[in-house]
Amino acid sequence: MTPSVPRRLRTAVLISGRGSNMMALVNAAQQSDYPADIRLVISNKPEAEGLRRADAAGVKALAIDHKDFETREAFERELDAALNDHNIEFVACAGFMRVLTNWFVARWDSRLINIHPSLLPKYKGLHTHRRALEAGDTVAGASVHWVVSEVDGGSVIDHETVNITPQDTEDSLMERVLARELILYPRALATAAKDVLARQL
Ligand code: GAR
Repeated sequence: MTPSVPRRLRTAVLISGRGSNMMALVNAAQQSDYPADIRLVISNKPEAEGLRRADAAGVKALAIDHKDFETREAFERELDAALNDHNIEFVACAGFMRVLTNWFVARWDSRLINIHPSLLPKYKGLHTHRRALEAGDTVAGASVHWVVSEVDGGSVIDHETVNITPQDTEDSLMERVLARELILYPRALATAAKDVLARQL
């Protein structure tokens, strides 16, 4: 008997910009035993650098411009249709800078994760590094969490920490946290994907 090939979760990554986290996921998924297969990258911004990077890596890359739609939900219905057209089972947001409606979150319930540049539950929303510095924190970091209707509110799958030094600026902290994100996200997606695959057994 030939050994059975482990199933990989058909995964899409949603981006809005440079796509460094997305590329970390694409690179991790080059390993045949990684539990997720990155089949599709979608950006709400057609000019996103990440679209070019995904395409160059041989991953199908699509732009769905949110400005072409009158409501958030109309945009998300198009997004949902594209995910379904590509037979996607799981969605990882990686620098996707649109707030998702309850409609989309319910539709992808327990199949939708996000990376956020703070140690959640601290600093939900924007300007996380600036807020950590202003608060005098000595530790910052990033978290990957399940997406629920409250923005950045779902349970944390995994996180990475970075020590804040007295010399740190918003930019230096952002750079060091991003370096940890690129290690964190592939690990957290693997955890989440194994969890989903185990639920399907
Ligand atoms: C990352 O730092 C990510 O954590 C953050 O945007 C950056 C995207 O960079 N996400 C958020 O702020 C979500 N609220 P990338 O496009 O190079 O991966």
